[in-house]
Amino acid sequence: MSAIRYELGSDQILTLTIDMPGQSANTMNAAFRDALSETAAKVKEDLDNIRGIIIASAKKTFFAGGDLKELHKVTREDARTFEDMVNGLKSHMRFLETTGKPVVAAINGSALGGGLEIALACHYRVAINDDSIQLGLPEVTLGLLPGGGGTQRLPRMIGLEAAFPFLMEGKKVNPKAALKAGIINELADSADDMITKARAFIEANPKCQQPWDQKGFRFPGGAPHHPAMAQKLAIAPAMLKQKTKGCYPAPERILSAAVEGAQVDFDNGSLIETRYFAELVIGQVAKNMTGTFWFQLNAIKAGGSRPEGVEKETFRKVGVLGAGMMGAGIAYSTATRGIDVVLKDVSVENAEKGKSYSENLLAKKVSRGRMTEEQKADILSRIKATDSSDDLEGCDLVIEAVFEDSGLKAKVTQEAEPKLVANGIFASNTSTIPITQLAGASANAENFIGLHFFSPVDKMQLVEIIVGEKTSDETLARSFDYVQQIGKIPVVVNDSRGFFTSRVFGTFVNEGICMLGEGIHPASIENAGVLAGMPVGPLAISDEVSMTLMQHIRDQSRKDTEAAGGTWNPHPAEAVIDAMVNEHGRKGKAAGAGFYEYPANGKKHLWPELETLFVNAEKARTVKLQELKDRILFIQAIETVRCLEEGVLRTVEDANIGSIFGIGYAPWTGGAIQFINQYGVRAFTERASALAETYGERFAPPKLLQEKAETNTPFA
Ligand code: NAI
Repeated sequence: MSAIRYELGSDQILTLTIDMPGQSANTMNAAFRDALSETAAKVKEDLDNIRGIIIASAKKTFFAGGDLKELHKVTREDARTFEDMVNGLKSHMRFLETTGKPVVAAINGSALGGGLEIALACHYRVAINDDSIQLGLPEVTLGLLPGGGGTQRLPRMIGLEAAFPFLMEGKKVNPKAALKAGIINELADSADDMITKARAFIEANPKCQQPWDQKGFRFPGGAPHHPAMAQKLAIAPAMLKQKTKGCYPAPERILSAAVEGAQVDFDNGSLIETRYFAELVIGQVAKNMTGTFWFQLNAIKAGGSRPEGVEKETFRKVGVLGAGMMGAGIAYSTATRGIDVVLKDVSVENAEKGKSYSENLLAKKVSRGRMTEEQKADILSRIKATDSSDDLEGCDLVIEAVFEDSGLKAKVTQEAEPKLVANGIFASNTSTIPITQLAGASANAENFIGLHFFSPVDKMQLVEIIVGEKTSDETLARSFDYVQQIGKIPVVVNDSRGFFTSRVFGTFVNEGICMLGEGIHPASIENAGVLAGMPVGPLAISDEVSMTLMQHIRDQSRKDTEAAGGTWNPHPAEAVIDAMVNEHGRKGKAAGAGFYEYPANGKKHLWPELETLFVNAEKARTVKLQELKDRILFIQAIETVRCLEEGVLRTVEDANIGSIFGIGYAPWTGGAIQFINQYGVRAFTERASALAETYGERFAPPKLLQEKAETNTPFA
C-alpha cells in the first residue's frame, strides 16, 4: 500500500491523501519518499488531465515531520548520500510546485517540521480553525534545521525578520495566529468546509506560480541587501551568539541558510539549505539533543522506570497539605488536569491565598485568549481551599508540602492517612529529608513515597519520584501514573541525601563557590557557568537558594554522617559560605545581599567587595575558561555516575532527562551521562583523574567509570 493515496476525480481535481501504513502519524521516512517519488511520476503522466491538486492527510494530524530515528543514524561518512537523498525528496515537492497547476494544502491537524514544509510548498493553505492544531518548524529545538525548504520558503512568504522566530526559536502557532502571520491563507470550520475552500481556490486559480518563481519577485520586508535589512542582519549573528552562548550550532546555521539562500534564486537557496542541514544532522549536538529530547524522553513517557504488572491508575481526588509556594503550584498543576484538589493549610485564609495563585495564572491565560472564562471557572471549582482534615476524606493521594520540618511532617502524615481511600498514597514533597525517615511516621510505609516537584511547579516539567526503603512497587507505579496524568516527566530515584537532582546540583554550586575561594574572579566564574550551558552562574544560583539554607543542609549532613560513625570531609566551598554569612552577613537574594547586590531600583550586580576579599590577581589573570567550564560539567557528571553506581538512579535515561530538566545541566550535552559518552568514557576518566590531582578527591573517577574506561564502553 502506498503512503500517498492518489485519487483523480472526474472533475480533474487530484487528491493526494497522505496515509502512512502502520503509523499513527505521517513522517518523512523512506516509505514516504518512495511514495512521493512515484506520485510525482504519476502526476507528470496525468498532468494534462489535472486541473489542480489537494494535499490532505488521513491521520489525526496533517504531518508530524522528519523521521528522527533515521536522522539520528546518519554518520559523517553518509553526509553526501544524505544530501542527495534530501535534494531528491525536495525535487519532487518542487516539481509539484512548478507544474503551473494550483496545489492546495488541506491542513486538518498539526503540521510541524517537514509537515509544515510540505504545506509551504503548496500555493494555498487552508486549515481547520481548531486551537489545538499547531503549526511550526520546531527542528531547532532538536539541534536541527528545517531542511525541507522551510528556511527558503517561509522568508520568501512572510519576510526574513518575521520568519526568524519560527525558524530560529521553533515558535508554534494555532491556525488563527498562522493566518495572521501569513503562513496560511484561509481558515475552515470543518473538514468539508476545508475541501470546499480548497476546490474554490483551484477553480479561481487555474494557473498558479509561487511568488518567488515570478519575474520581479520582491522579498517581503526587504531582501538581505536592502540597506535597512542589511543593517539588522549585520548584528544578528552577534545577538544569536549571545543567546546560544556558542553551545548551539543550529540557530546560527539556520540564519546562514536563510540569509545566504535569500541572495540567490530559490533552487540554489534550497541546495544551500541542504548543506547546512546535513552539517547539523551529522553533528554531535543534534545527536545529543534528538537522543535525549526524543528517544529518552519517549522511553520515559512509555513507562521508563515504572514497575511492570501494575494496572494503570487514574486519579480523581488529590489532597495537598500546605498552600505555600509549592503546595499552591501542585494544586494548580493537578486541577488543570481535571483532578479534584483539596488544598489544606492551617487557616482557610492561607488556603485561599494558595488557591488565588491558580486564579492568577488562569486569568492570564484567559486574557491571552488561551482559555475561556468557563474553562477557568471549571478548574477553580475543582480546588477546595480548607483548614479541615475532614475534607481529605476519599483522596486517592495526599501530597504534603508543609514547612521542611520532620516533626510537622510526621504530624500531618498521621492526620491525613486515615482519610485516604483504602490503599491510598501519601507523598512528601520534601527537598532534603530522607523519605525512609519520614515514612517512619506512617501507618502504611508501603504506600509512602516522595514526589519532589520543582519551583515554579507550573513551569517545571520534572518530578523526582523517591522510593523509600519500604515503598512498594505498586505505590511507585501508581505515583508514576499520577505524575504522567498531570503531564509532567517522572524520573525515579532511590532514597539518598539530596536524592538525585539536589545532590548533583549541590556539586555545581559548591564548585563555583570553591573557585571564588581559590581567587578566581567572580565574573569569570559566572561566565564559565553560562558558557558551559547552565541556565545561570553558580554564584547567582547560590543567592537564589540562600546560603543559610546551604549551611543548614550541610550541618544536618555532617551531624548524620558523624552519628553514623563516618568522618566529615569539609568541602572547600564551606569556608567561603561561612565567611559570607557569618562575617559579612550576606545570606543571599531573599536577604537582599549575597554574592550579588540587589539595589531597590537597578539591576543586580556582583558585590564589589568580593574582589578585595577573595580575588587573587595572578590566579584571576591566568585561569583558563575551558578549565572552569570543564570543572562545572565534570563535577556534576561524576556525581551522576556515583548516583548510578549507588543505585540512587536506576537508568541512564532518568540520569540524562533528570539532569537537564531538574538541574538545567547543559541541554546541548544531551544530559550528564551523555556528556561522558560523547567525551569518550576513557578520555573523560583520564581528564577526571587529572582534575582530581589538581583540585581534590571529589573529581576522582568512581569505580563504575573506571571499569567502563578499561574497555572504553559508553553507558548504554
Ligand atoms: P512555604 O513556606 O511557602 O509553604 C508552607 C506552607 O505550609 C505554609 O503555607 C504553611 O502555612 C503551611 N503549613 C504549615 N503547617 C501546616 C499544617 N499543619 N497543615 C497544613 N499546612 C501547613 O514552603 P514551600 O517553599 O512551599 O515548601 C514546602 C515544602 O516543599 C518543603 O518541604 C520544602 O522543602 C519543599 N520543597 C520546596 C521547594 C522550593 O523551591 N521552595 C522545592 C521542592 C520542595
